[in-house]
Amino acid sequence: MSSLCNKQVLLGVSGGIAAYKSAELIRRLQDTGATVRVVMTPAAQHFITPLTLQALSGNPVHTEMLDPEAEAAMGHIELARWADLVLVAPASADFIARLTQGQGNDLLSTVCLATAAPIAIAPAMNQAMWSAASTQANISSLNERNISIFGPASGSQACGDVGPGRMLEPEEIASAAETLFSPGTLAGKTVVITAGPTREAIDPVRYISNQSSGKMGYAIAEAAIEAGARCILITGPTCLTPPEKAQTFKVTSALEMHEASLREAVHSDIFIASAAVADFRPAQNADQKLKKTASDTMSIELVKNPDIVAAVAALEDKPYTVGFAAETQNLENYAKDKLRRKNLDLIVANDVSRSDIGFNSDNNAVTIFGPERTNVIAECSKRQLARQLIDLIAQEIPSE
Ligand code: PMT
Repeated sequence: MSSLCNKQVLLGVSGGIAAYKSAELIRRLQDTGATVRVVMTPAAQHFITPLTLQALSGNPVHTEMLDPEAEAAMGHIELARWADLVLVAPASADFIARLTQGQGNDLLSTVCLATAAPIAIAPAMNQAMWSAASTQANISSLNERNISIFGPASGSQACGDVGPGRMLEPEEIASAAETLFSPGTLAGKTVVITAGPTREAIDPVRYISNQSSGKMGYAIAEAAIEAGARCILITGPTCLTPPEKAQTFKVTSALEMHEASLREAVHSDIFIASAAVADFRPAQNADQKLKKTASDTMSIELVKNPDIVAAVAALEDKPYTVGFAAETQNLENYAKDKLRRKNLDLIVANDVSRSDIGFNSDNNAVTIFGPERTNVIAECSKRQLARQLIDLIAQEIPSE
């Protein structure tokens, strides 16, 4: 699995004949599992159209600094925050000079100023421009600032000259970008994740469920893939698109989730139960829609569902088993009790009394308890939290 898998790469394209290779570069980056968005300088658009790069990247191409529509959707600060890597290819002599000076006179240079992500450039220019003292001084300065310089290659150039200044081939640039990220901490591991709610049928049109959106579980699946794991996602009904690289099993009820989980867990190294599983289901699932009766009340008898995560933790050769605890009070006591009772290796305690974290929100804040550890993860996006959780699990599991 590539270290770029699941990474968000902002590809900057500046003006130069090598801009046509950006189309191929998008493909090579996508092959690694990265998501690509493109920012073009005005000069770049003379060499290749935004439409071409939009069609290939599958995302709108950003060209204007002061475009009210773009700013409302994804402006320069959002783009700068979105990126896990800003890769400028081709990087012209002019762009390199502006980057060195910290100018913010177009969208691409501004994003570079605003981003906290690593920046890499693939220079492309005439050999004399590359050898010019000013360009070389700029490159030294960027090197000192830990900006990665990929290439350039040497050879015959579009202008007829021969020498250094050719942009590296797209495949070489994608490989160089991979080296910026460490190999996955879960490479070679299989991780099974349960996500979302379950639905317990009352009759063909009614069910008992809860407010889980699946966002937490899907974020964990993405973080596990990013860490190099083979990921199996067992999901209840959600509106989300599962990560492309996950092997996904869609289930509806707790009984179906139980069956899929035990089937998959026996071959896994890690099992993470983030699903909000219904503890009970109706004793009867009526074949036909229940009719309204004259009575003012109605009772539905409920029977207990099997405890999925406890069943996995009871397997003879159990995977490293992580549960979640959704609590509205006594967070620590209840979570630690579940850790012991269910024989878990870790439990992620989630305060679900707040509406801004937990169920159906984009953010979360948790405390993680193990038999001998407590880790607090302060409020952050579920994506960031998932990465921290996966890092912690990777430190805990025995390496092969
Ligand atoms: O999906 P989101 O909208 O992003 O919300 C995320 C979340 C709040 C659902 C998630 O962060 C969370 O807390 N999930 C656990 C919800 C839950 O059911 O907690 P619990 O305390 O009732 O269950 C404890 C553990 O036992 C959980 O790991 C649960 O998956 C598991 N369980 C529960 C019952 C059951 N029959 N089988 C189980 O495996």
